[in-house]
Amino acid sequence: MKVFSKIDELREELLKNRQNNASIGLVPTMGALHDGHASLLRAACAENDYVVVSLFVNPTQFAPTEDLAAYPRTFEADCRLAEEIGAKAMFAPTPEEMYPEGDSTWVEVTGHLTAILCGKSRPTHFRGVTTVVAKLLNIVGPCKAYFGQKDGQQAQVVRRMVRDLFIPAEIRIMPIIRENDGLAMSSRNAYLSEDDRAAALVLSRSLNEAEELIKNKGLRDREEILSRITAIISDTPQAQLDYAEIYSFPDLEEIDHLEGEIFIALAVRFGGARLIDNLVVSI
Ligand code: PAJ
Repeated sequence: MKVFSKIDELREELLKNRQNNASIGLVPTMGALHDGHASLLRAACAENDYVVVSLFVNPTQFAPTEDLAAYPRTFEADCRLAEEIGAKAMFAPTPEEMYPEGDSTWVEVTGHLTAILCGKSRPTHFRGVTTVVAKLLNIVGPCKAYFGQKDGQQAQVVRRMVRDLFIPAEIRIMPIIRENDGLAMSSRNAYLSEDDRAAALVLSRSLNEAEELIKNKGLRDREEILSRITAIISDTPQAQLDYAEIYSFPDLEEIDHLEGEIFIALAVRFGGARLIDNLVVSI
């Protein structure tokens, strides 16, 4: 696997491969790679001839009060894992390479899709995500780019951007990878104390309980399901609820009566760590 920090050098390498008719896949990440990232990489390697993994802790998607400086960085281990899985290139640019002096363009999906859930709690977050993902798609020009359902809203926001800007890449959304006990894998799990790590199971537990209420008890009332989830979370002293919401899937529109595919999404804080999780239920 070759490691690139310069856009021009990566592009030169990709041009050679494109001339040999190689299909190119892109897996954008912020590093501290775990099995969730690995699953995207494996899918990308199975479906493309040449896979680029990007590793960039994107400053524009963090608010000034958030964890940019503390974000876990494990570059050597990330390179080993990506190479082992079969990535051909790691693109790890500096902030100056991605946002050179004078950079003044944002790519922003506006409206309901970015106003709800994480967009409400983190108002400038998705603008940072879509700007950097647009840059990465333009730099790499992949046939397919891979995102995780773990960040379910992010995946839909990226899909919307790609559709609206006619970006010629297919966005592939891969399932959530969990620890054996149900906790969704996340680079931010590293922030949890032992006590909070145990308490964090409340996310997957309350989502499973909601699914059980819908599927086995026939509940269809949004408010009732949300109040059951909220009750489970408020019974956990370490957990501080940011949001619990239900929307249609995949459009994330408002719904009162639950039918078709629904998206149940949670964000919960444990000390300094904010964890998100979600479940899509088919009714
Ligand atoms: P990061 O949090 O590093 O995640 C990179 C990709 O891995 C995202 O598409 C995310 O949804 C996926 N992922 C993370 N945990 C996962 C899990 N447990 N199961 C399946 N997929 C998982 O998301 C970002 O970085 C950034 O916002 C980025 C898209 C790279 C833009 O900066």
